Amino acid sequence: MNDDFGTLDGTLDAVWSRLSNGVTNADAPARTLALATDGPAVRMVVLRGADRASGTLTIWTNRASDKVSQLAGDPRAEALIWDSAADFQIRLALEVSIARGDAGTWDALGPGSRVNYARVPPPGARLAEPDAVQVQPDPAMFAVLTGRIMRIETLHLTRERQARARFPHGRLDAAHWIAP
Ligand SMILES: Cc1cc2nc3c(=O)[nH]c(=O)nc-3n(C[C@H](O)[C@H](O)[C@H](O)COP(=O)(O)O)c2cc1C
Repeated sequence: MNDDFGTLDGTLDAVWSRLSNGVTNADAPARTLALATDGPAVRMVVLRGADRASGTLTIWTNRASDKVSQLAGDPRAEALIWDSAADFQIRLALEVSIARGDAGTWDALGPGSRVNYARVPPPGARLAEPDAVQVQPDPAMFAVLTGRIMRIETLHLTRERQARARFPHGRLDAAHWIAP
């Protein structure tokens, strides 16, 4: 058994190495995460940034999407990642702030990526057919979500053991195991 998962600090390092890897490696398990907001509503999003020092994640989206209105009403969210090779679940409680994407990031996006964040009609609008959308890349629609990690919860499943741990943000001293 890989016993990084047998200690609290090893488990926390395993979380952050996966988050960092998700940002840089398109095939990593944490490349996409399920993001749940007050709806209830859940959807997959791509992890664009993860910063251990500030305890934050970054996600890009369309300002007109339902997730943005839901987060404007209630900034609390949860993100979920499953690393099947490591049998490791990562659950993150977040407080999400919404900002306009910066011009430099927008400029660096190719046209194929920009359309993910700006098109008409807006996400969720009823269409007569799937292709009845017009691409209208508009930097004002490019929103950046910054999720401040309030709590990390992990579950490592093996035949021998199910180890579940909780890490309040920024307080490794207060981390503890919990019953799975
Ligand atoms: C693999 C995958 C990655 C996705 N990445 C994003 C993303 O980074 N940002 C985003 O806004 N939507 C992304 N989507 C689309 C969302 O899952 C969702 O359908 C869309 O954002 C509308 O969600 P909402 O109406 O709940 O706001 C992705 C979908 C998939 C399947």
